[in-house]
Amino acid sequence: MGKLVFDTTPGVETNELDEAYTTFAEEYDKYHGGSSVPQTTIAKKECMGLISPKPGVKFLDMTVGTGNATMYFFEYQDRINRNTVSTATLVDLNTNMLSIAKKRLGDTKWAKDGRIEFIKGNAEHMPEISDNSFDIYCCYLGMHNMPNRNKVLREAMRVLKPGGKIYVVEFDTGTWRIGKAIRGLLFQFLELIAGGSVQNRTMTLRIHHSGRAFPSPPAFVQEMKDAGFAMENNGYRGIMYTLGALFIGTKPTE
Ligand SMILES: C[S@@+](CC[C@H](N)C(=O)[O-])C[C@H]1O[C@@H](n2cnc3c(N)ncnc32)[C@H](O)[C@@H]1O
Repeated sequence: MGKLVFDTTPGVETNELDEAYTTFAEEYDKYHGGSSVPQTTIAKKECMGLISPKPGVKFLDMTVGTGNATMYFFEYQDRINRNTVSTATLVDLNTNMLSIAKKRLGDTKWAKDGRIEFIKGNAEHMPEISDNSFDIYCCYLGMHNMPNRNKVLREAMRVLKPGGKIYVVEFDTGTWRIGKAIRGLLFQFLELIAGGSVQNRTMTLRIHHSGRAFPSPPAFVQEMKDAGFAMENNGYRGIMYTLGALFIGTKPTE
């Protein structure tokens, strides 16, 4: 406990983060539900607007956490598409985070209509999910937690239908030294305003640390290309005043 430098052994890193989420789960939405940092809510809405899911799609919310992205997905389907058949599968490795998502979404009309499925699982290996089964694979602020991104991206490629889209939202860690330094300061500022209300600061910092270690956007775009995704233009768009990046890839049709 209290250690901020990760062991680079993949399994160890995952366990440390899992421990952090177990401790932090109840407080997570003070950050990401928008009560301390409203920008996080604005960013999720902004992303759903950019994703603009079509009616009837099958949506996979990988690293669902407490369920925020799925909520915006269904709200979008209701409000913009007036759609009542699209479905969502919600996956997370952490029992506590997933149980908050269940509490939050398990009683909604979407769940009662059988449109929501919860799976406790690891993004690296999802035997519960068959090949070619989703139109959208969304990983919102979860990829920075993955020690083996290549395995995760390969698994995403497998479960997406041909022509299906992957959307990864991450921190934009920047490409040049001064930009990285400015971003580092901004992240610290966000930690300060949100962290004041969070009891377990050590665990929160452990999670933030893993976010800052994420590769630069062009480097991650290359990883997506290496996994076989087709990327349009430069492969990502700046979000949240360019503090974040939305990576968009397509599974080729042949
Ligand atoms: C920063 S939270 C993001 C939650 C949610 N997507 C959101 O935007 O609010 C990251 C989530 O990824 C989950 N996670 C980390 N590693 C995972 C893995 N290998 N497979 C599935 N979920 C994982 C964590 O348990 C945590 O709930």
